[in-house]
Amino acid sequence: MGFFDTEKGVDEYTKMAEGYDGTELIKILQEYLSEKSTVLELSMGLGKDLDILSKTFTVTGSDNSQGFLDKYKKENPEEGLLKLDAITLSKDRTFDCIYSNKVSHHLTREGLSKSMRMKCTN
Ligand SMILES: C[S@@+](CC[C@H](N)C(=O)[O-])C[C@H]1O[C@@H](n2cnc3c(N)ncnc32)[C@H](O)[C@@H]1O
Repeated sequence: MGFFDTEKGVDEYTKMAEGYDGTELIKILQEYLSEKSTVLELSMGLGKDLDILSKTFTVTGSDNSQGFLDKYKKENPEEGLLKLDAITLSKDRTFDCIYSNKVSHHLTREGLSKSMRMKCTN
């Protein structure tokens, strides 16, 4: 079981992430991707970036941590989230863009390489 699979891990990350979001990164994405494009956020954590992305794009949030998915779902019960592993990406859906922030360093070199290949071929 990993750090983000525990309630303690989710709570600690919530405190750690206070005041940080992907606003600047998303501004760059908005320059290249048309409004309403479909975007999968891979490993959304608390969903702060998902909320920002949703103002411009048609978003789907995902994570492999049930704790993060449950936390977001509690405040956004209408949101359709995916429980998705960043390495295997095993879902039969395609998106115009996959957005992911502060996630790749959690994967091994091999996992990251596989994840990149899956993003391109799925
Ligand atoms: C540092 S947090 C970043 C969360 C969010 N993207 C943000 O910007 O605040 C890392 C996230 O990666 C997720 N994660 C780690 N390994 C993963 C994997 N193999 N598949 C999917 N998500 C993973 C964790 O559950 C956590 O939500």
